[in-house]
Amino acid sequence: MCGIVGYVGEKQAKPILINGLLRLEYRGYDSAGIATIEKAGIKCVKNKGRVSDLNNISSINSLEGTIGIGHTRWATHGKPSSTNSHPHLDNSGNFAVVHNGIIENYADLRDFLKSHHYNFLSETDTEVIPNLIHFYYESGKGSSQKRFLKAVIDACKMLKGSYAIEVLSSYYPDNMIVVRKDSPLVIGKGENENYISSDIPAILSFTKDFYLLNDKEFAFISRNSIEFYDENNRPIEKQAKSITWDAGSAEKNGFADFMLKEINEQPKSIRETIGSRISANSESILPDLNLTKSFLKSINKISIIACGTAMHAGLAGKFIFENLCEIPVEVEAASEFRYRNPIINEKTLCLFITQSGETADTIAALKLAKSKGAKTIAISNVVGSSISREADYTLYTHAGPEIAVASTKAYTSQIVLLAIIAINFAEKLEKNNQKIDELKKDILLLPSQVEEVLKSSDKIKDFAKRIYKEKDVFFIGRGIDYTTSLEGSLKLKEISYIHSEAYPSGELKHGPIALIENNVTVVSILTNRLLVEKSISNIQEVVTRGAKTFIVTNQELNYDFDEVIKIPKTNSLISPILSIIPLQLLAYYISKEKGLDVDKPRNLAKSVTVE
Ligand code: M6R
Repeated sequence: MCGIVGYVGEKQAKPILINGLLRLEYRGYDSAGIATIEKAGIKCVKNKGRVSDLNNISSINSLEGTIGIGHTRWATHGKPSSTNSHPHLDNSGNFAVVHNGIIENYADLRDFLKSHHYNFLSETDTEVIPNLIHFYYESGKGSSQKRFLKAVIDACKMLKGSYAIEVLSSYYPDNMIVVRKDSPLVIGKGENENYISSDIPAILSFTKDFYLLNDKEFAFISRNSIEFYDENNRPIEKQAKSITWDAGSAEKNGFADFMLKEINEQPKSIRETIGSRISANSESILPDLNLTKSFLKSINKISIIACGTAMHAGLAGKFIFENLCEIPVEVEAASEFRYRNPIINEKTLCLFITQSGETADTIAALKLAKSKGAKTIAISNVVGSSISREADYTLYTHAGPEIAVASTKAYTSQIVLLAIIAINFAEKLEKNNQKIDELKKDILLLPSQVEEVLKSSDKIKDFAKRIYKEKDVFFIGRGIDYTTSLEGSLKLKEISYIHSEAYPSGELKHGPIALIENNVTVVSILTNRLLVEKSISNIQEVVTRGAKTFIVTNQELNYDFDEVIKIPKTNSLISPILSIIPLQLLAYYISKEKGLDVDKPRNLAKSVTVE
């Protein structure tokens, strides 16, 4: 939640900060602000609303400095308002801070600072930070950079919670200090300039060389140098990493929205995820995952832990692992897992799925699993993300940057990667050889099959026009199709604000069917030949009660449903990769019909870095 951006260089900072914030708006868009160092000291422009609204504030024209910080907010403490917007200044006006995260002990820190005569203007947790820095700065001596750094380090020692922070001081007009703990922050290295951001894509057009900070590492940044320090103020060495993503992958490239672009990118993102990991006639190759046969034989459970869409990918993964590896799998929301003292130990293999690699609950769940002795694998889309620094092994989906808040291409790539991992384990365990050979061939066909499904776009758009004013939509499916229903339902509610629920088809009769009345839309997914008859009976039960039906299927159906979207046949274990696509498009077109902001739905942020 919240995006932060910074620039230290020779160019005017303002346009660079605004550009970066526009790209980070998916992380929150309740308010925005920037601060730069000017001859007269720190100047700050901020307001409630979107980043683009900042340009309507006349005082922004006076910001000419070449060093600055910016923030786009997803409100936690304090309602969206100009006063609660970042940057926040200390009482003297000499320190400015932007912050992503939550300071859990801010109330105590406020009391402490108030007892030392500090005043607070906002309701935020963040405002304690610049004041603490000022407090510690005042207890130091001299004007060396060391005094500034020590004040920031001492202030951070007082903070409990999560933070990625950028600090400016009018006393040090050529420098910025940044630090992170449990919130993302990257530093992009340029020629006589350096960039700071919550994520890589926001500054990818400026540089491809990045420093990734670990928790409680500080960077003292000037135009020509970046010095790194640990929490004890000791210098540390860091190497920049070169990122292979191209800048165009973070642009809309002619699509109306990032979500539509990302839906259409799925043939490519799936191809990239497969890479050279599997081929038709040889064993799978996962060089980053060298688990031995004896270890795999020793485990008695796989736990898959994730949030939202990533958890839905995990639910599909359960079917794949249980089928190929014959190991029991449980799937759980990270936010539940971490608070129930789960029974896991060195015989448990835990898989954590997270597109961003920054989801607070998923990272906390991983730490818990590690503390109980479990082996941990992270599946992430973002190279160098926080989770990759915690897990025993990290496998990347290589889906390219996903900008839209609603996750689409990350989901399909996650299932592809789960299938490849399951194949790899089954090969090592010498189980289900024939099934594996067939599945590999089917996985290799997926990119062209997804292209085929995308051709149904117009039909889906037409159906969206028929139902976009509805209040409730139901999604049903059996077996693995139920997991697709859950994901389809989530997509619809998050970007169209239509209430929707997903049920296993067989569960309808146990209660929810009471909600079916004339003209209610029921979306049904039907991809398993063995379950067709039973599922058709369930669909007929709702048709009889007046429901409109939107069916996604790879079966031949001779029934008079309102809309049937045919998808290619594939192994039922990977069928969600094809059957979700019409549902992603349905949600997209309904949201467009309603005139909503598809990429930035209300109340949501792309990375949930708070619990
Ligand atoms: O970055 P993560 O995969 O950890 O994010 C998990 C969820 O927050 C995310 O999938 C969320 O549910 C999406 N907005 C769904 O489209």
